[in-house]
Amino acid sequence: MRVQLKGDAICTLFLVVALFTILYSQLGHTSLREEQLKGQKRPSPATHRAFHALQSPLKQLNARPTASGSKMISTMKHVKMAKQGDLSTNPPPSTPSAFDFRLYLRNKDNRKFDLLINQPKKCKRNPGGPFLLIAIKSLVEDFDRREIVRKTWGREGLVNGAQVQRVFLLAVPKNKTALPTWETLVQQESQMYRDILLWDFLDTFFNLTLKEIHFLNWADEFCSNTKFVFKGDADVFVNVENIVHFLESHDPSEDLFVGDIIYNAQPIRTRKSKYYIPETMYGLGMYPAYAGGGGFLLSSSTMKKLSQACSEVELFPIDDVFLGMCLQRINLKPTMHEGFKTFGITKPSAAPNLQTFDPCFYKDLMVVHSLKVAEIWLMWNLLHSPRLSCTQKKQVKKSFRWKMKIKGTTIGYAA
Ligand SMILES: *[C@@H]1O[C@H](CO)[C@@H](O)[C@H](O)[C@H]1NC(C)=O
Ligand SMILES: *[C@@H]1O[C@H](CO)[C@@H](O)[C@H](O)[C@H]1NC(C)=O
Repeated sequence: MRVQLKGDAICTLFLVVALFTILYSQLGHTSLREEQLKGQKRPSPATHRAFHALQSPLKQLNARPTASGSKMISTMKHVKMAKQGDLSTNPPPSTPSAFDFRLYLRNKDNRKFDLLINQPKKCKRNPGGPFLLIAIKSLVEDFDRREIVRKTWGREGLVNGAQVQRVFLLAVPKNKTALPTWETLVQQESQMYRDILLWDFLDTFFNLTLKEIHFLNWADEFCSNTKFVFKGDADVFVNVENIVHFLESHDPSEDLFVGDIIYNAQPIRTRKSKYYIPETMYGLGMYPAYAGGGGFLLSSSTMKKLSQACSEVELFPIDDVFLGMCLQRINLKPTMHEGFKTFGITKPSAAPNLQTFDPCFYKDLMVVHSLKVAEIWLMWNLLHSPRLSCTQKKQVKKSFRWKMKIKGTTIGYAA
């Protein structure tokens, strides 16, 4: 009897353990899948944040998103992973097995790389320096994206009387056989446009943090006279007029950091996830508030402080989060602004493309993420057409007004 009871207990225990093992292994899959499904709808703030956390490491790879609007979000991960394979890397390096955290931790102190192409006079053209420096992360092979940005929102010169200058932030492409002449091409591009900064480290997404640090140091050294900085991706549409208008009422000598802020994002601890961050890398349960990498604004004063702070913060492979850590170090709470849609437009609509291509809709925004080259071109031309007349005529004729909505700037914020 006793033996039999003991046997039953062991058996039950075994079954319970087996059940939990199965449940646990399922959890990894379902939570990711759920995230994707929820992302298709207008995400709740919580999922939105979690989703951001999932997406951040991949942002830079989104060189040519294939769909827009809400559809984009559901397919993004696969698209990006696939793209990454055929763009610059082989085999795909982002899987946890390929990304060696121990190696990363060991090499963490190796964080100073040479500047191969500089634009030392970028900010010396105007005696007072530029009003706005636009810095755009780009991959060497994305010549077409840079071209479209130069011709549209990234134009240098005066915008409503404010001087705007532009630089692209590049590093060494990983697959050199795909583009053996890359050095010559980039040299020529630099001579032609004088807007290329190239650093001597591999351009992988886990190295984007290095781009962040090196850019801030560059800006501090060669462009300290700029009033403001906009830093963003090449696949965004930026309404520079709105940004200039917004900045005109701010003091560059005061702290300013504005963007699409993500609060309370948690590190992914599921080993199977592509976005897995082990506790040895980050021990806390929550990331500091950080800006979605699509684009954000900072004042000259904040740029200088961040440049210093980021050189003291330990390297972290997700660049957006890393910058959040630098902000935390200088005790600056980033400001959320509605005009930054770094996540693309996810208006629920039967015709999402119509929504996305309504220039009147774009008129109110500052940054919209994940656009194709042609979409950026089309939107810019529509917005600058003298025939642009929106159905809500009042909105167009009135001067632009900000609907400032600061959604809880404290770390403890929860929706
Ligand atoms: C680099 O790209 C070329 C052509 O796109 C491809 O055939 C090759 O396998 C890639 N090599 C590596 C090391 O990624
Ligand atoms: C970052 O770049 C350095 C220098 O090129 C390279 O040795 C390292 O492997 C890269 N790290 C990652 C995580 O890609």
